[in-house]
Amino acid sequence: MIERILPRHVACADAFEDPPDARLFPEEETIVAGAVTRGRLEFTTGRVCARSALAMLGREPEPILRGAAGQPLWPAGTIGSITHCRGYRGAAVAETRHARSIGVDAEPDEPMPTGTFEKISPAGERREIRRLGAEHPGVHWDRLLFCVKESVYKAWFQLTGAAVPFTDVGAVIDPVAGGFVARLRGSGTVLPGRWLAERGLLLTAVVVPGSTNGARGVAGE
Ligand SMILES: CC(C)(COP(=O)(O)OP(=O)(O)OC[C@H]1O[C@@H](n2cnc3c(N)ncnc32)[C@H](O)[C@@H]1OP(=O)(O)O)[C@@H](O)C(=O)NCCC(=O)NCCS
Repeated sequence: MIERILPRHVACADAFEDPPDARLFPEEETIVAGAVTRGRLEFTTGRVCARSALAMLGREPEPILRGAAGQPLWPAGTIGSITHCRGYRGAAVAETRHARSIGVDAEPDEPMPTGTFEKISPAGERREIRRLGAEHPGVHWDRLLFCVKESVYKAWFQLTGAAVPFTDVGAVIDPVAGGFVARLRGSGTVLPGRWLAERGLLLTAVVVPGSTNGARGVAGE
């Protein structure tokens, strides 16, 4: 499903269940040694998806370790992103010449937990989301906005090594064409992305192009 919101040069894989025979490398086992079963399963299937996607790029299986901020550490010459939520795990990877950064996120297409929407969005953005809800019912637009901001957070972290507060990410969602444009307040950076609502899930993806596909860098950089 995730391939529908990613460009062709990005390899990806996803899963709606945890394969019973999924295995981690010993170095990865250490990362989730203290995790509860659900977290362990999500992590394991996420790694399996990531390795499937890396195999599409011709890469042999190898451990994908975790950085100090929780970010996945990709094999040399590749970058990517992993997401998991109830009923879904997905990963996207590309060679660094094709993409400088990727952020993907999945959320259940359900209402936001009480109070979270107010924390992540200023009043004007909340008004726009309410308008989308009135004009295009059927998608939990507040949750989609959160999903957009999570994917932007991941892509931005990979690009800069810095965390971006959600209130610094302004996003405009195109309800018809399945796109969005995120603007990072302060830096003026613009990150376009794509979204999808299907099977009770929301998926978002941001891909910052690399040097071989006409990229001149992130707008605003
Ligand atoms: C890191 C974060 C973006 C993860 O998103 P999430 O929706 O909770 O969880 P997902 O399953 O989609 O993503 C988890 C994956 O993100 C990746 N990830 C974690 N930290 C990351 C980072 N700093 N940069 C890029 N990717 C990261 C990991 O691959 C992780 O999976 P893994 O542990 O199995 O490797 C999110 O938890 C977070 O910390 N956001 C900070 C912003 C914030 O303030 N959020 C709350 C707003 S109310």
